[in-house]
Amino acid sequence: MEDTINIQEEKRDMMRVKTGIKGLDEFIEGGFPKGSYVVVTGIPGSGKSIFGMQFLVEGMKNNEKCLFITVEQSPDEIVSQAMQFGWNFNQWENEGKLKIVSLDSKKLSEMNTYDELKQLIQDNHYDRVVFDSITSIVYSPISPYSITDGADRGLQPQALMEMSRANVASLFEVTKQHGITTLGISQKVEGMPGDTVDKVSEFKGDGLIILDSGVVGNALNRNIQVKKLRKTKIDGTPHTFDFTNDGISLAP
Ligand SMILES: Nc1ncnc2c1ncn2[C@@H]1O[C@H](COP(=O)(O)OP(=O)(O)O)[C@@H](O)[C@H]1O
Ligand SMILES: [Mg+2]
Repeated sequence: MEDTINIQEEKRDMMRVKTGIKGLDEFIEGGFPKGSYVVVTGIPGSGKSIFGMQFLVEGMKNNEKCLFITVEQSPDEIVSQAMQFGWNFNQWENEGKLKIVSLDSKKLSEMNTYDELKQLIQDNHYDRVVFDSITSIVYSPISPYSITDGADRGLQPQALMEMSRANVASLFEVTKQHGITTLGISQKVEGMPGDTVDKVSEFKGDGLIILDSGVVGNALNRNIQVKKLRKTKIDGTPHTFDFTNDGISLAP
């Protein structure tokens, strides 16, 4: 009895952060638990970056402060991809609601980048942060977070993996401390087992969302599956989605 009351109180106290993905929130009790770290994974072209942008758009519409960290694309590319859905990232940047940080591999080689990133997050009171992608950070050969550069130092694969996990997890300790709801985008390889290719992104993740597609007849059927979300009742089944003029939208 007491347990039941405690559970109810906890649910009431927990703030939900709307994802902005049309039709998704109703399957996850209203949104992501505030301050959680959710991994979004899928093969190239499955819609991960758009998912990340749309998640930030929802925040900016509510005057939240947002940070998009990209290793994959230049800020200009992000801005123009967003514009395809009428999301005016330039305007939000000018209004101080959005910051886009592009890390090329040269920057990733500077050890300080990570401390700078953590500092940036700590100093700016962001509400939402997207990392696009954790996989690129982990596989960038010269990154201090890399799992590929340690072989030269005679480190075993298992030790490298653990180091990389600890390093990446330290990023999310910072976002958690500040109650920031965070998306870590990750890559999946078609035909390869595992939800992420790096097996680092999902470590310490509060949630795991998979974007996938399959050919049905002569049409491409895209689907989204919430495989895990802490403190949330999920159905776990894949739901069909499409790209509309407003972004990703689940089929009714
Ligand atoms: N308006 C649209 N109509 C149909 N498909 C779209 C539209 N906009 C984007 N896409 C699809 O989204 C994909 C790119 O999404 P993106 O988020 O960049 O993928 P990822 O980050 O997973 O590689 C494209 O390959 C394209 O198939
Ligand atoms: Mg992408």
